[in-house]
Amino acid sequence: MYTSTRSAPTGKPWTVPMLREAKQDGRRLVMLTCYDAGFARAIDQAGIDLVLVGDSLGMVVQGRDSTLPVTVDDIAYHTACVARGLSRALLVADMPFQADASPERGIDAATRFLQAGAGMVKIEGAGHKCEVIRHLVEREIPVCGHLGLTPQSVLRLGGYRVQGRDEAAADKLRADAVAVAEAGAELLVLECVPTPVAAAISADLDIPTIGIGAGPQCDGQVLVLHDALGLDSGHRRPKFVKDFLVEGGSVVGAMQAYADAVRDGSFPDAEHSYA
Ligand code: KIV
Repeated sequence: MYTSTRSAPTGKPWTVPMLREAKQDGRRLVMLTCYDAGFARAIDQAGIDLVLVGDSLGMVVQGRDSTLPVTVDDIAYHTACVARGLSRALLVADMPFQADASPERGIDAATRFLQAGAGMVKIEGAGHKCEVIRHLVEREIPVCGHLGLTPQSVLRLGGYRVQGRDEAAADKLRADAVAVAEAGAELLVLECVPTPVAAAISADLDIPTIGIGAGPQCDGQVLVLHDALGLDSGHRRPKFVKDFLVEGGSVVGAMQAYADAVRDGSFPDAEHSYA
């Protein structure tokens, strides 16, 4: 059985203002995706800080080829399931494809997610999405941004590829990150971004960045639950994925091993990052 090298942080449930405090104190944030109450209980037991009901559920739970078919009803249902199992971690619900196409649609979907138990909603992209983010934040809905590889853009991007590789693309990503933070986001997921670009964005912003394939210098990390537990999702396994069940020995042990590795800075290493 895996024994965590640090005691899992106990105490107060996570709140939105605690995110910036963690960044100021240099405490790395640990996030996992989750889709049901049973795993949510395990996540709390393991001392994970943040839980995302991601639209990745379309691929890992529903067995689809992309996240595009996931609906507001799907996210609301899984958010309610996860909320029943959580008592400490901050619950973030993902805006599914086009649910944030306008501020009005965004507020309707986000209200359902908060009423289902979420404490924050995640929105992919910048540009016109900044207007949606501002609209939600002004109406008391905390927002997490998501830049870099945004899986809802898969048709335009032509696949799931690392973003921000050349100078112009890296500059655009940095400008988008500032715009998302200025619109009021309190957290920012960076997916599949070269390590130096993610490091620069993390230094630019007061809000914490959460990396997935974005190197070790983000303020926290997220993994899809199924990937962290070594489950074959039926899709190509990205470079940033690590199976923590091997060293953890049990579901909770794997989550603790992941949390310890993020907090002590050993995950992600170069093998699980893009140069
Ligand atoms: O949907 C999801 O699980 C996500 C994470 C990969 C960040 O967006």
